[in-house]
Amino acid sequence: MAQPQNNDHQKLVIKPRHMDFPFGSLKNIKFFDDNIYKSAFMAGLSASFPAGETEFLNSVKNYRDQIKNPALLKQVKGFIGQEGHHSHQHALVNKELDRLGYKTKKVEDALQKVIDTRVSKLTHKFRLAHTVSAEHITAIMAEYLINNPQYMDGLETPFKDLFFWHAVEEVEHKSVCFDVYMEVIGDEKYLAKIMKLSVFLIQMRLAKHMFILVFNSKHWWNLKEFGRFVSWMFGKGGMWRSLRKPYKEFFEGSFHPWGNGGLELIEKWSKDYYRPEQNKASPEYAAAHSG
Ligand SMILES: [Fe+2]
Ligand SMILES: [Fe+2]
Repeated sequence: MAQPQNNDHQKLVIKPRHMDFPFGSLKNIKFFDDNIYKSAFMAGLSASFPAGETEFLNSVKNYRDQIKNPALLKQVKGFIGQEGHHSHQHALVNKELDRLGYKTKKVEDALQKVIDTRVSKLTHKFRLAHTVSAEHITAIMAEYLINNPQYMDGLETPFKDLFFWHAVEEVEHKSVCFDVYMEVIGDEKYLAKIMKLSVFLIQMRLAKHMFILVFNSKHWWNLKEFGRFVSWMFGKGGMWRSLRKPYKEFFEGSFHPWGNGGLELIEKWSKDYYRPEQNKASPEYAAAHSG
């Protein structure tokens, strides 16, 4: 792992987009392809964001006053703003998920307990390295989703829009925590070790959160749907398999989050996935929500 040849990527302006999705229109507890496991997997991700992303912010804030690079400091501010908005929008949709029959509070409480009793007691170095690792995994998932929109076929619209929006901002700020770590700590060997641990922990947590939600719904037993979930996630062309290559790149000597580009995905989102009615700052939003 190393810094890129130049810091051009730090010229990218990172700013939260103020979205407001019409979540009230979600209809079905199996809102993803009529499959309880696929739906609960996405609901579990959503339920974990408010507590998880707050920990990411805190782990970066611990080092904020040691960052000397003004361009990076500006991006840190944007990163904090974006993650704050993600947590806010996910907190809103989590209420809707509860209305459909999920118990998202159980996931949030379980994660918060881990953060309060274990993570917050760990060193600042560990917490930042874990955030860098989680941000890399989030970014490669986000890139996969934007490049493979068919992966979310069958997902109800406001929830799908939420995930595309979240994904584009994860791409946008994908290098921020990495650059902070390299500037204030720079211990690449340690980071590689924490990444291996983090990918294991994150997979365990994602599975745990999905099963908490499924077992607390009335639909927990459905072998056919479970089989479809497994092939969606782990089968040929499934997300997990496709993430192996970009995951491994993290350990290459020349790795940097922008090493393989990604700016084109921000444009793709604006062109293919964004509609002004999703954004409070746009006149179209005001028109669509007036009266
Ligand atoms: Fe986020
Ligand atoms: Fe992020």
